[in-house]
Amino acid sequence: MIARLLQIVLFFSFTAALFALLGPLLKAQDRDEDAEVGVTRDEEDSGLPKRHVRAWQVADLPPNEASRIYDLVRGALAKAYASSGIDGIENYQGLKRYNTSPYLSSAHGKHYLNNYANDTARLYGQFEKAGKLPVGSVLYKDSFSVTQSHQDFSASESRQIMLGPLFIMRKMEPGFSHLTGDWQYIQIQPDGALLGMTGGEGADRVEYCIGCHLSREEYDHLFFIPVTHRS
Ligand code: HEC
Repeated sequence: MIARLLQIVLFFSFTAALFALLGPLLKAQDRDEDAEVGVTRDEEDSGLPKRHVRAWQVADLPPNEASRIYDLVRGALAKAYASSGIDGIENYQGLKRYNTSPYLSSAHGKHYLNNYANDTARLYGQFEKAGKLPVGSVLYKDSFSVTQSHQDFSASESRQIMLGPLFIMRKMEPGFSHLTGDWQYIQIQPDGALLGMTGGEGADRVEYCIGCHLSREEYDHLFFIPVTHRS
């Protein structure tokens, strides 16, 4: 009985202490909200920059312009990716390219993309008719992004060009991974750092590749290139 009473007293004093602690905090938050309303009411005294913040959006480039920009950045891309030290990566731009010009894709983060495949993967060029690609096939998808200010949409000097990641698929020996049809997924960051590779270092960071490509299981997990950009 005494123990029960003690429990109740303890419970109430704990709750009171909690309110005593939280009360001023909650009030402080109220005050912050008031202050913010004040800022928007009186912009002159807010000390905030007077110019509008520029909004950037992905530039929708015609094919020749996308190719011109790719020519400007491809050397930098090759150099950055090569620093990852991944086998065979230094020469990926010397392989056959299967798209006519860089194309915009939302599946890989609103970047402009190019697709290269090594000789073992040459059936890739038959697209949906390719069937299963053989062990040793390697597909490379490099990327860059081009954004443009809303305000000067027609002026090319208002563009922002950025290097993007390199996406790789490597066909491994049978048994590597039933879930991926023995494809290994690799992502190299624009600065050449390895984000991860499935079945290896940083695997949890590239697991997101698997689910999406799995929806194309009947085509050996491949999506291919939009028909408008196939070479
Ligand atoms: C949201 C879905 C999605 C995710 C996630 C995704 N991909 Fe893709 N992938 C696609 C689509 C769609 C294509 C083809 C069109 C394109 O390039 O956008 C493609 C194409 C590719 C290709 C060229 C081979 C092919 O399928 O034609 C490679 C290589 C590739 N992806 C690698 C990766 C890697 C590596 C990852 C993870 C780091 C990844 N992808 C994550 C949807 C996805």
